[in-house]
Order: sequence, then structure tokens, then C-alpha cells
Amino acid sequence: MFRETFQQDANQLIVKDIVTKNIKAAHILEKYGIDFCCKGNRPLKEACAEKNVSVEKIISELNSAETGDTDSPKRYENWDLKFLIEYIINNHHSYVRNAIPQLLPHLEKVVSKHGNKFPFLNDIKSIFKDVAKEMQQHMYKEEKILFHIIRYLVDCYKFDEKPKMNGFKTVKDPIESMEAEHTNAGGAMEKIRELTNNFTPPEDACNTFKLTYKELQDFEKDLHIHVHLENNILFPKAIALENSLINKIAS
Ligand SMILES: [Fe+2]
Repeated sequence: MFRETFQQDANQLIVKDIVTKNIKAAHILEKYGIDFCCKGNRPLKEACAEKNVSVEKIISELNSAETGDTDSPKRYENWDLKFLIEYIINNHHSYVRNAIPQLLPHLEKVVSKHGNKFPFLNDIKSIFKDVAKEMQQHMYKEEKILFHIIRYLVDCYKFDEKPKMNGFKTVKDPIESMEAEHTNAGGAMEKIRELTNNFTPPEDACNTFKLTYKELQDFEKDLHIHVHLENNILFPKAIALENSLINKIAS
């Protein structure tokens, strides 16, 4: 799939579309620090220039991964929206809710033991605590408000009903607010990545230090996929669904 797409015109490739076509491209882009979720709506060429990586090198790696890959990818872009919402809640929201109470005590322990020698650990703790709090509130808002609206739009379309938006003029309003929160969370984890030198523990780090860095890295990776599924698949489809519903009712 990559090979076929890339041979058409590599200069036209948009970062988010690469991952939407095959989620396994995510780890290759991540390796080079290319953001495919919050800043995914831009040409690969531009993202590569920013990170000083050649487009050809990235494409070659994507093609190799595709050729050597025998697992069938998850085709999120074809999933029913209600199913995608359940997947996001059961996989990503659930992961975040479980990871935070495991990670925070490890981070506290590392700061208390090594904070004097490595003062930046205090900054990491403070940033992560904010991310944790904001993510919990963010997921609550998605589950109690936005995801309900999207499910409702799916039902309205199915039953030819005119949607009543309960205070929102359009689904775009809560979506814009959730996208802004994604950008904040992504930026905070990027800052943690910088402070930890790409999650590289010091040579003499203890096991809790290494574990904490690994957990932070896993948290960021999961966040990237999570935000990609919402920003690049669920939200545009919800907006398109609302538009088609308006046209359907008007005709
Ligand atoms: Fe979200």
C-alpha cells in the first residue's frame, strides 16, 4: 500500500494520511520525531525538512516495513463511528486511566531519590501531573458530551431525523475545543521528551528510573495514536456526517 501510494507523488503526501492508511507507519515517523497527530495535516516534505530528515529515507523505511509486514493492519478509517468510539474508550481511555496511577508513584520516587542530582526531574513531575489531570478531565468531556453527540448524529442519519444539538450549533464547536486540548497534551509530552533526551535514562540509572522513562515513553506513544484516531479519523468523519445530515434533511 505504501509503495503504491508513494510512487504516485511523494511530494504530495500528507503526514496524517500516511498513518491513516497504515497505523504501522506511526513508529517510523515517531522515530524521527515527526508529529502525525496534532501537526499531521501538513506535507511529509515540510515535516521532514523541519526534522532534517530526507523524504526518500522515510519512504524507503515505510516501503520496507510494508514489504516485510505479515500482520493485517487495523483499518480504523473504515470502522463504524460508534465502534471506533468504543475502541477509543476501551483501549486508549482505559490505558490512560490505568497508566496514570502506576506512573505517578514511580515518578515521585525517582524525583525524591534523584531530584537533587537531576533537577529537571522536578519539571517532568510537574508537567506530567498537569497532563494527567487535564487528560482525565478531557476524556470525561469526550465521553459525556462529544461522543454522545457523535453517536446521536449516527442515529439521526440512520432514522432520517433532524438533530437537536442541545446548546451546540454544530459538532465542530466541541471538536475544536477537544483538538485544542490534544495540542496542549501533545506539547507537554514533547517537552517531557526533550527534558529526558528522548527518554534516555542516565547510564547509572536505577531500575525505577529506567521504568519511569519507559512508562513516560509508552504514555506518549499511546497518546499519539489516540489523538490520531480522534483528530484525523473520528472528528473529520463526524463533521462530514453532520454536513451530509443537514443536506439530507434539506433535500
Ligand atoms: Fe481526545
